[in-house]
Amino acid sequence: MMAKVHPLVLLLVISLCVLIEINKFLISPTMAKPTTFLQDFHITWSEAHIKQLNKGTAIQLLLDQSSGCGFASKNKYMYGRVSMKIKLIPGDSAGTVTAFYMNSDTNGSRDELDFEFLGNRSGQPYTVQTNVFANGKGDREQRVNLWFDPSSQFHTFDSVEPPSHCYCLDQLRYKNCVGCLCGMINPLPWSKGKRFYVDEVPIRVYKNNEAKRVPYPKSQPMGIYSTLWEADNWATRGGLEKIDWSKAPFYAYYKDFDIEGCTAGHDGRAAGCSANNSSNWWEAPSYQQLNPIQARNYRWVRLNHMVYDYCTDKSRNPVAPPECLAGI
Ligand SMILES: *[C@@H]1O[C@H](CO)[C@@H](O)[C@H](O)[C@H]1NC(C)=O
Ligand SMILES: *[C@@H]1O[C@H](CO)[C@@H](O)[C@H](O)[C@H]1NC(C)=O
Ligand SMILES: *[C@@H]1O[C@H](CO)[C@@H](O)[C@H](O)[C@H]1NC(C)=O
Ligand SMILES: *[C@@H]1O[C@H](CO)[C@@H](O)[C@H](O)[C@H]1NC(C)=O
Repeated sequence: MMAKVHPLVLLLVISLCVLIEINKFLISPTMAKPTTFLQDFHITWSEAHIKQLNKGTAIQLLLDQSSGCGFASKNKYMYGRVSMKIKLIPGDSAGTVTAFYMNSDTNGSRDELDFEFLGNRSGQPYTVQTNVFANGKGDREQRVNLWFDPSSQFHTFDSVEPPSHCYCLDQLRYKNCVGCLCGMINPLPWSKGKRFYVDEVPIRVYKNNEAKRVPYPKSQPMGIYSTLWEADNWATRGGLEKIDWSKAPFYAYYKDFDIEGCTAGHDGRAAGCSANNSSNWWEAPSYQQLNPIQARNYRWVRLNHMVYDYCTDKSRNPVAPPECLAGI
């Protein structure tokens, strides 16, 4: 429904999660991370609108009336985890969308996990829209208004203080996080569900309901994508608030790119990748389900900050989809 957007964006059903800062010494010392942008990513939309900064360790995305822009990982990954720091457009960001997502790029059987940050007028809350595509079927939007300003602590990109919030998909090393996007590429077979986090607060859980014949994204290698674009026909207050081009250009920033994962071959297959990989800290059982505090926070979000849920949208779904009946 809310997807009348730039055609490129349709390809991007988004799985973005944003932000986590990993406690560096907890990462395997063999990983010389973070890397430069070009080591792991390439520009997929409008070279002229993406500028490399700080010797390629950071980038600036620009949106103006001529174009938005986007980038993607060079590889696809089977099991793994990605993180990068992001700074959203400050001030009047109405009509803009910054997206971070993972996508298997397999058309009719596509799996995709999206985070879309919907801009707003100055002083109004950013909204995070999440969506889940499994085996080609999406239409599972949920929206949560953020309880803080994700751009407030980052007045200039060179600021020593990065934003203190993490948006994270499934991957939870959120302690000491300083503001980053992060995502889990494919949950583990024994995971209790796909989780989306903002800081330590879960904003969404997509449970594995394969027993009820609901497809679950878990076995296709995924690429990592991000885009910045204009979508003022739907993004802010349902399209009522238009983009104010007098405030353009709009800038978003990314840095500290870090992907750890098992790379799929050029044939798109990842036969050699094993979920039971002891070098992957995120596979520990404690990362596979909500702990009691997270469960409480999740209820708090749903009660106080959720502004849209496809499960309860009777005009779209007179009968709630089966995964909705399985409880939150
Ligand atoms: C997806 O569909 C497009 C357009 O029909 C086609 O070019 C592309 O090869 C397809 N990709 C896969 C992975 O099937
Ligand atoms: C923008 O702010 C308005 C007013 O606070 C709110 O209703 C809306 O959910 C916010 N987000 C978007 C994307 O419109
Ligand atoms: C285990 O994970 C590491 C990255 O964390 C990856 O380099 C390695 O290829 C993986 N091994 C298998 C067998 O999946
Ligand atoms: C992988 O680890 C899980 C959890 O420890 C275990 O249940 C499963 O049997 C293991 N699978 C393989 C193939 O070793």
